[in-house]
Amino acid sequence: MKIIGTGSALPEKIVTNDMLAGFLETSDSWITTRTGIKTRRLLSKETLGELAITAATAALESSGVAPENIDYLICSNVANSYVTPSMSSIILGLLGCNCPCTDLNGACAGFIYALDIADAFIKTGRAKNILIVAAEEPSRFCNWHERETSVLFADGAGAVVVTEGEGFKDFRVTADTHTDVLYYKRAMEATPYDRVESKTTPLVMQGREVFKLAVRACIKDCDIILEKNGMTGEDIDMYLLHQANLRIIDSIREHLEQPKEKFPTNLQKYGNTSSASIPILMDELSRGGVLKDGMNLLLSAFGGGFVTGAAILKWSSIDYPEIEEPVHEPAV
Ligand code: ACO
Repeated sequence: MKIIGTGSALPEKIVTNDMLAGFLETSDSWITTRTGIKTRRLLSKETLGELAITAATAALESSGVAPENIDYLICSNVANSYVTPSMSSIILGLLGCNCPCTDLNGACAGFIYALDIADAFIKTGRAKNILIVAAEEPSRFCNWHERETSVLFADGAGAVVVTEGEGFKDFRVTADTHTDVLYYKRAMEATPYDRVESKTTPLVMQGREVFKLAVRACIKDCDIILEKNGMTGEDIDMYLLHQANLRIIDSIREHLEQPKEKFPTNLQKYGNTSSASIPILMDELSRGGVLKDGMNLLLSAFGGGFVTGAAILKWSSIDYPEIEEPVHEPAV
């Protein structure tokens, strides 16, 4: 399986650390030194569905695959305002796809989980072209009176089209039950038989515990997948890691003893966009000409559950269609 198209979309609203310090007891220096995040994009005017459509349309256009030739659509999403229908059902018709679709909640590792499932569908001949859209709005899970979580999370969407061909070498996905370290509970309706009050609990996160679990798990995933494929850290040209925290990325990099240039980041601009972070980064790097034909990439992510995902692939460059510049009327 290989990636033949990428796309991404971010909300218009840019929120700086100083803006957060205006209503939370926090500061630009605390957020920057603890996480690396300087700004983030938060949904205000747009909907998550609109971001998903923009990212997916860009991925389809760059792949050259018509929407009607997509055989399966997977949307990686932790939560949105609809419990049913799924986000994938909502975007399917608007994209013009006519295929089965499903949502997948693999927390921040959801994009890699989706790739792994797509790979199995393609290998077994169940599908030829699959569209994966990771669309996330974790800013909507946070308690915006609490500084511990609200400064970290942000919204966005990233998408890829995958098809048959040489690209992905291997996947490693794991799961372990640590449901107390990171959770968000939504209210459900009361019934005549279950009168226990159900209420929303905004995102609860034991930050230090998550930090340790994340570093340990990603290091283990990288070591195992590299060894299994007869590779070392040297053989990887670029590591596309989940964009949660610069210090987590640095700890993994130090363990692998690889140079900073191999670990591109954009969390400084976009914060933690959950499972959308890797496809957004991939799209930026691919369109910017940073990802070159034949490069070996390692993807690695971790998230609530606790789940992790890692993948190794050889990149094939993508020809992006020229974007027409808007025609401006000459000033009179
Ligand atoms: N501004 C200022 N002070 C803060 C803030 C804030 N935004 N948040 C916490 N503090 C305070 C704490 O209250 C604490 O104060 P105290 O010493 O008086 O008790 C102090 O800063 C230190 O808090 P720690 O939690 O120990 O700070 P730490 O250095 O561990 O950094 C952080 C916190 C950034 C959350 C870190 O633990 C982390 O990055 N963890 C992983 C988070 C993560 O990646 N989450 C997402 C993973 S899964 C997914 O992506 C869905």
